[in-house]
Amino acid sequence: MYIVQVASECAPVIKAGGLGDVVYGLSRELENRGHTVELILPKYDCMRYDHIWGLHDAYRDLLVPWYDGAIRCQVDCGWVHGRLCFFIEPNSDDYFFNRGCYYGCSDDPMRFAFFSKAALEFLLKSNKRPDVIHCHDWQTGLIPVMLFEMYKYHGMEHQRVCYTIHNFKHQGIAGADILQATGLNNATYYFQDERLKDNFNPFALNYMKGGIVFSNYVTTVSPNHAWEAHYTDMGCGLGHTLHLHQHKFSGVLNGIDYDIWNPEIDRYIPHPYTAENREGKVKNKQALRQRLLLQDTDKPIICYIGRLDQQKGVHLVHHGIYYALQQGAQFVLLGAATEPGIHSWFWHEKQHLNNHPDVHLELGFNEELSHLIYAGADMIVVPSHYEPCGLTQMIGLKYGTVPIVRGVGGLVNTVFDRDYDESHPPDARNGYVFFQTDHTAIESAIDRALELWQHHPQAFAQLVTQGMDYDYSWNHPGESYVAIYDRIRHQ
Ligand code: ADP
Ligand code: GLC
Repeated sequence: MYIVQVASECAPVIKAGGLGDVVYGLSRELENRGHTVELILPKYDCMRYDHIWGLHDAYRDLLVPWYDGAIRCQVDCGWVHGRLCFFIEPNSDDYFFNRGCYYGCSDDPMRFAFFSKAALEFLLKSNKRPDVIHCHDWQTGLIPVMLFEMYKYHGMEHQRVCYTIHNFKHQGIAGADILQATGLNNATYYFQDERLKDNFNPFALNYMKGGIVFSNYVTTVSPNHAWEAHYTDMGCGLGHTLHLHQHKFSGVLNGIDYDIWNPEIDRYIPHPYTAENREGKVKNKQALRQRLLLQDTDKPIICYIGRLDQQKGVHLVHHGIYYALQQGAQFVLLGAATEPGIHSWFWHEKQHLNNHPDVHLELGFNEELSHLIYAGADMIVVPSHYEPCGLTQMIGLKYGTVPIVRGVGGLVNTVFDRDYDESHPPDARNGYVFFQTDHTAIESAIDRALELWQHHPQAFAQLVTQGMDYDYSWNHPGESYVAIYDRIRHQ
C-alpha cells in the first residue's frame, strides 16, 4: 500500500509532544511491514534541521489557491531518520510557519487550513495518488472535507482518508472566512449540524468535526479513550458526532518505537541495560544525580516528564513534588508549560526549591535529558486529568521506571495496579493506579510505591521486571492500522 501521513509534527524533527512520536513511529512500522510511506509536514523555521538528511527542493512553484488569488509555495524533501518527508514552505515572509513556534498563534486555524490545502495541492500537482491519506488531529481535519468536496473532481476520487484524533480538547474553531480562504464556497451547506457547524457555537466551524464526518475511518489513540470520548464529556462536545459515525470509529492504542525508546540501545544514556541485567540502571541513576546536582543518597527518585498543562493534572504534579520530598524521596521534573500562568507558577517553585538537594525542576523541552530521566528514575508519575493515550508511562515501563498514574484514558489500557487490578493476575501487573483528583489519592498511590521500594525491594524488582516485559511496540497497532486501511480501500 502507498500511505501518506499528513501531520503538524513528526519526531524528532518536529516534536511538541506525543503526536510527533506517533507519526514517526507508525510510519516506520508501516514501512517495516513493506508499505510505502511518505509524510507531508509544515516547514517551520524552528524545527530541528539537524535531524533532516539530504534536504532539497522537490517542487518549486506550487501555487496554492487561497481566497481570490494564490500563494506560491516551495516543497522541500528530505529524510528524517530514513522516512521520506515533504516540507511545505509558503514563499512569503509570514506565511505561516516562520513564527519561532509550532503552535499558539492567534491565526492557528488559518495557518493549518492553509497547510491542509497546500498538502492536497501538492498531492494533486505532483501526481501522487496514495491509497490512504492518514491525517492527524485538528490541524488536518479539513483535508478529508476538501478532498471529498473539491479534489475528487480533479482525479483524486480513489483516495481514502483515515483520521486520528490525539486530543479532543483542541478542535480547530474558525469563522466563515475559512470557507472563502480554502474555496469551500457554500457557507449554508457547511454550516449544517451534519457537516462542519460547531456543536457549541452555531456561528463557528469545527475542523475536527469535519474530520470525523468526512473521513472514511476515524480513530482515537486508545480503546478506553474512544469510549470516554463517545460517552462522556471527554469528547469535548463531539460525543454525539462520534455516535452518529460510530460504525467507522474505534480506539487503537498507540505504540512506542523501541528503536528509539529502548534502554539496551539508547544512545542518550551512558549505561545501557536490559530487564535481565539492570546494573546500568543503577549507574544511570548516579549519572542523573550528578547531572542535576542532586545529593548522592540511597533515596528513590520519582520523576515527571511532560507538558505542564491542565490536561496533565498540574496541581497533582505540584503536590506530588512536595509529598515525595516529605516522604523521603527525590523528585525530578522535566516539563514545558503551555500557558504563561502555569510557567510562572512552576518558575517560582523552581526558585523556591533552588537549593534543595533532593529536587530538580527543569523547565523547557529537552529530548536528550528526558532519556536520562526515564533511565535513572525509579518511578514516574502521570496524574493526568484526561489522557487520550499517554506515552510517558509506556516509555517508563520499558525503562524499568514504575508508573504511578491516574486511571483515565489510555493509562487504564496500559498500567495495571499491583495491589488492586483484578482483571490481571499479580504477575501481569505493572504499576500503581489512583482515580480521584484530590491530593490524598495521589498520596496513597505514592505511599504504596515507596513502601514496596523501601521495605520489599525484591517485590519491587519483580514489579519492574513485569513492566519491562510488556510489549507496547508498534507491532499490534501497526497491524490494526493496516486492517483499517485495507477496510477503507475496498469500500
Ligand atoms: P502529550 O502528547 O499529551 O504531550 P504523551 O505522553 O503522549 O503526551 O507524549 C509526550 C512525549 O513528549 C513523550 O515522548 C515525552 O517524553 C515527551 N516530552 C514531553 N515533555 C517533554 C519535555 N519537556 N522535554 C522532552 N521531552 C518531553
Ligand atoms: C496527545 C495526547 C496523548 C497521546 C498523544 C499521542 O497529545 O494528549 O495522550 O499519547 O497525543 O497520540
